[in-house]
Amino acid sequence: MDAETIENYKKAGKIAAEALAYGKELIRKDSSVLDVLNKVEEKIISLDALPAFPAQISMNEIAAHFCPEDDDSLVFSDQVVSLDIGVHIDGCIGDNACSVDLSGNNPELIKASEEALKAAIEVVKVGVKLSEIGKAIEDTITSFGFQPVRNLSGHGLDLYNIHSSPTIPNFNTKDNAVLEKQVIAIEPFATTGAGLIQEHGEPSVFALMGRKSVRVGFVRDILKKIESYNGLPFTTRWLTKDFSAAQVRFAFNQLKQLQILHEYPPLVEKNNGLVSQAEHSLLVDDEVIVLTKV
Ligand code: CO
Repeated sequence: MDAETIENYKKAGKIAAEALAYGKELIRKDSSVLDVLNKVEEKIISLDALPAFPAQISMNEIAAHFCPEDDDSLVFSDQVVSLDIGVHIDGCIGDNACSVDLSGNNPELIKASEEALKAAIEVVKVGVKLSEIGKAIEDTITSFGFQPVRNLSGHGLDLYNIHSSPTIPNFNTKDNAVLEKQVIAIEPFATTGAGLIQEHGEPSVFALMGRKSVRVGFVRDILKKIESYNGLPFTTRWLTKDFSAAQVRFAFNQLKQLQILHEYPPLVEKNNGLVSQAEHSLLVDDEVIVLTKV
């Protein structure tokens, strides 16, 4: 990685952390979920960066990939709330997340994912087995009496690629693959449920998976907008700023038929257990740097 790329990762990480701290403060009883997400994305743009994926708020048994549409009236009440924010500068991504317990009844669940993240970061270095990182996460979460979510994992952060290799497991996979010099995100999820998530419900997060041409004028315009995200995930509400909901729906159907629209449906805990999440991005080199710090 050249010096400029490293600098961009550092900047993106710092802005992601600022946006996360800002968004976390906005999560309060009776405020609008959509409003918080819009404000977080505006904040990212005001800091001269772009969202690497739609800011997401997943609550209670939903672990990830929940993104309200722009007519959604959902408000916070007493949920366990996870806020996941990605930022990029020229494709260099910073990814981080935190959870807030608005009920006041689940402080340990929040702590379990936070402590698991700390324990994982402590073992990170070039050459460490990925399963060692997973073990640190699993041991910490189970010590709190919860389960790690086994089929969600941390990941590499390549240029314009939010989920590159390696997979950083949230449990001890016992395999021997090791960490190399790269940028990664570690994201433990702790749950009161079984520790497995499954896709459930209608997606509002998507990514474009290749290039094809379309005939209809407004579909072409929508596709052009989507191509400007460079393969990074986007959400319906970003497009309905400039196009009608019916046009966007029509365009999505076309892109699906052309098999270039990847869908990310909400991920829900199998036993409807509550889920908390914590996440940091790290630059792994001779020295390990947590990138997503203010
Ligand atoms: Co992530």
